[in-house]
Amino acid sequence: MDRLSVKIGNLKLQNPVTTASGTFGYGVEYADFVDLDRLGAIFVKGTTVEPREGNDYPRMAETPSGMLNSVGLQNRGVDYFVGQIYPGIKDYNTHIVVNVSGSTLEDYVQCAQKLVDLEKVPAIELNISCPNVKEGGMAFGTSCRSAAAVTRAVRDVYPKTLIVKLSPNVTDIAEIARAVEDEGADSVSLVNTFLGMAIDAERRRPRLSTVTGGLSGPCIKPIALRMVWQVYNAVKIPVIGMGGISSATDAIEFMLAGSTAIQIGTYNFIDPAISMKVIDGIEDYLKRHKLNSVSEIIGKLEI
Ligand code: DOR
Repeated sequence: MDRLSVKIGNLKLQNPVTTASGTFGYGVEYADFVDLDRLGAIFVKGTTVEPREGNDYPRMAETPSGMLNSVGLQNRGVDYFVGQIYPGIKDYNTHIVVNVSGSTLEDYVQCAQKLVDLEKVPAIELNISCPNVKEGGMAFGTSCRSAAAVTRAVRDVYPKTLIVKLSPNVTDIAEIARAVEDEGADSVSLVNTFLGMAIDAERRRPRLSTVTGGLSGPCIKPIALRMVWQVYNAVKIPVIGMGGISSATDAIEFMLAGSTAIQIGTYNFIDPAISMKVIDGIEDYLKRHKLNSVSEIIGKLEI
C-alpha cells in the first residue's frame, strides 16, 4: 500500500485521499458508508474559539451549476471539540486535521493553542478563506499581508503541521501562497468556495439569507485546477487540491496539476462512499499506467 502514501509536513498519509472540512462532519456521520481508517486524513468541521450559531436560514441553495452555502462557521467552539468530540474520534486509524477559523488574529492563535496538545490531531488547517462571515474569514486570505500575518502568529505557537486554506476569490493566489510559505506554513490547501449568489426570480429575492454564499461542486473544477497549477509552480511546500472532485479521474487531474493530496467536498453529500471509490480508482490508474507510486503523477503534467 506504500505506493499510495504521501507526506504533508510531518504527516505521512497512507494515501492522498482526504475529506474536506464542513462536508464530512467528524467522520462518525459517514461511518456506515466509509471505512474511515482507509482515508488519508479527515479534515473535520471548522472550529472557532467561541461557539457560533452561523448565519440565518436559508443558508444552502442548490443550483443546476453547483451548490451555494452560507453556513457562517456554525460550531460549538473549540472547548466543546476538545472535551466532547475529540474523545469519540481520537482512536480512528487515520489522521484528524482540525480546520480553524476566527474573526481576529488572536482568535486563530487561541484556537491553535487549545489544539496543540491533542495527541491525535497532528495538524491544523488554518481557514483564511471562509466567504460567509462579516469579520475575519476570507478577509485574512485575500491579501498577502494579512495572510502572512495570521500564518506567522499561528506558526509561533503551533509547532505541528500547519496547513493554510486559501481563497479562490483573489487575482494573486500564487503570491498569497508564497507569502504564507515564507511565514512557515507546511502546506497550502486550495480552493475554498467561490463567492456567488442565487436568485429566486418569481419571488424576486435572493435564495440565501446572506444574499451571497460560497459556490462549490463540479462547476468550479477547471478554475480550481488552474489555481492548483499556478500555486504548485510558485511554492516548494506540498499543495492539497480540491474543487469539484467527484471521481478518481478528477483526483488524478488535480495530482497531475501539482496536488500532493486531494480533498473531496461537495460530492460527499451526493455519494457518501465516493472517497473509497477514489482511493480504489487511483490504485487502478497506477496499475493501468504501470506506475510504482503516486509520486510519479504529482505535478507530472506533460506540457
Ligand atoms: O464555503 C464555506 N463555508 N467555506 C468555509 O470555509 C466555511 C463554510 C461556512 O461555514 O460558511
